Amino acid sequence: MSNKTWFVTGTSTGFGHSLAQRLAQQEGVNLVATARHTDQLDYLDQYDHGQILKQTLDVTNRSQIDDAVKAANDKFGGIDVLVNNAGLGYFGTFEESNRDDVEYMFNVNVWGLVDMTRAVLPTMRKQKSGTIVNFSSIGGLYSFPTLSFYHGTKYAVEGISESLAKEVKDLGIKVLIIEPSGFRTDWAGRSSKKALPTIDDYQQFTDFIEANAKGAHHEAGDPDKAAQIIFDQVTNHAADLPLRLPLGKFSSDTAIEKYKQNLAEFERLHDLSASADQK
Ligand SMILES: NC(=O)c1ccc[n+]([C@@H]2O[C@H](COP(=O)([O-])OP(=O)(O)OC[C@H]3O[C@@H](n4cnc5c(N)ncnc54)[C@H](OP(=O)(O)O)[C@@H]3O)[C@@H](O)[C@H]2O)c1
Repeated sequence: MSNKTWFVTGTSTGFGHSLAQRLAQQEGVNLVATARHTDQLDYLDQYDHGQILKQTLDVTNRSQIDDAVKAANDKFGGIDVLVNNAGLGYFGTFEESNRDDVEYMFNVNVWGLVDMTRAVLPTMRKQKSGTIVNFSSIGGLYSFPTLSFYHGTKYAVEGISESLAKEVKDLGIKVLIIEPSGFRTDWAGRSSKKALPTIDDYQQFTDFIEANAKGAHHEAGDPDKAAQIIFDQVTNHAADLPLRLPLGKFSSDTAIEKYKQNLAEFERLHDLSASADQK
């Protein structure tokens, strides 16, 4: 059986690091490990016997995306799994959030994922096979205060991924949306800017943001376990791959509760909703 080639964005820390480390040790796997600064990928050297390609890649840089995809195709002759992991956060109330910072987050979390996927799809269509793993969040299904724009990026990832999955299904390409709750990565710390508090009416949320930042690296989720689950789902459960995979107990509980509440409300409103169709 020929090797499967995985292409992962944002492998310097967090989920990307855990997944790259897991893949680097796996027989039968080629790894394209990408990062903004490849000097942060020395941890992979001990596993490298020619099956690892390190590539500089900022997902907001389209020429770097094209170069990385070409380099992967040249070295390994295809890409079987694309993992759109790179992403960041932003904490602030809706009114106090800085527009430029929010726009940058959209460029990374949404447009970076979109541009990466569009660059890889021609390869997968030609192969008539492939899996696209898109990092959303439980925050792509359920919204908390102070994260409105982060949720905006992840709800966008959910909608785009769900639609894409239907378009590429008959081409042999699958889409898997990852929805973690809190995991011990750099996300809540260095990867999440915080808005400057400027409006006294929102003081309670400033305290909430500070408490959240202090909780960074103490979350329940273990990124190494997440990496193992993602690898196993893509590799051993391809035939019944879910569209959505909540990771972490909080994520699963919250997703189930949210869908139950939505379902109850939609059912209660069903006749009223349907009546809008009648003349
Ligand atoms: N940890 C959680 O609790 C949690 C929960 C739900 C969803 N997520 C999602 O999980 C994904 C991975 O985050 P993480 O938790 O592993 O946090 P992390 O440890 O902060 O890792 C984020 C990764 O994204 C990279 N990145 C940021 N901007 C980039 C850009 N413009 N181009 C390329 N790479 C970029 C970072 O690279 P640098 O080192 O260069 O900054 C880093 O490798 C994100 O999409 C995040 O939204 C995380």
